[in-house]
Amino acid sequence: METVRLQLPEDNDVRVEEAIKTLRTNIQFSGSGLKVIMLTSTVPNEGKSVISWKTACSFAQMGKKTLYIDADIRKSVLVQRMKPDHETFGLSQYLSGQKTMEECIYHTNEANLDVVFAGPYAPNPTELFEESVFEDLIQHGRDNYDMVVIDTAPLGSVIDAAIIARLCDGAIMVIESGNIGYKMLNKTKQQLARTGVKILGIVLNKVPMQKGSYYGSYYYGKYYGKYDGYYK
Ligand SMILES: Nc1ncnc2c1ncn2[C@@H]1O[C@H](COP(=O)(O)OP(=O)(O)OP(=O)(O)O)[C@@H](O)[C@H]1O
Ligand SMILES: [Mg+2]
Repeated sequence: METVRLQLPEDNDVRVEEAIKTLRTNIQFSGSGLKVIMLTSTVPNEGKSVISWKTACSFAQMGKKTLYIDADIRKSVLVQRMKPDHETFGLSQYLSGQKTMEECIYHTNEANLDVVFAGPYAPNPTELFEESVFEDLIQHGRDNYDMVVIDTAPLGSVIDAAIIARLCDGAIMVIESGNIGYKMLNKTKQQLARTGVKILGIVLNKVPMQKGSYYGSYYYGKYYGKYDGYYK
């Protein structure tokens, strides 16, 4: 297995770190045998990729062997954000039979963290996720890692996340605070529930902060706070 060096973002915001730790702890207390988890949301841009990545790193940092799978083949951002030091293969190439599993899983410069990048855009991700080789990858994750964290596309736009959910032990919904209505949210939740996956909870993201109070508006909601400096 090859190693790829990523430019890991430095996060100095203690509140974000704390929020992610809380999320990690909540996941750990959600039941034993919980190994493969996925994150999704209703619409784009709610924060799935950022939160799933940080969650995976957080598990890795506590010594858990972690596999991060970028399953948003339609619009992956991981490669642009993490700037791998050399060209990599990814999930779309593995699922379409162009590359082996071994060629698509990379060790990273973050200890205990391996990744599968999304790979080049494919026109038919939904069909690709239905391939049995996708199940093989998840099984490989179960057999060789302590945690598998999967980032997916928004469920309100495409069905991919529901197909992926069927193979997962748990799902987390990311919600951008104040962005979408209850009805839409409920639809996403129902769609997810129909797959049979255990819905572990929601992450309320991008909660507006009040200027002037450092901790004052920190939201101790079910799971997650927000980044410093975000004003909606
Ligand atoms: N809590 C937050 N505070 C401020 N900005 C945030 C927060 N969470 C995410 N962002 C920003 O919002 C944007 C979208 O985040 P991200 O890419 O994680 O969303 P996504 O749900 O994966 O989107 P997509 O559906 O397009 O894949 C990014 O620019 C990210 O830096
Ligand atoms: Mg994303």
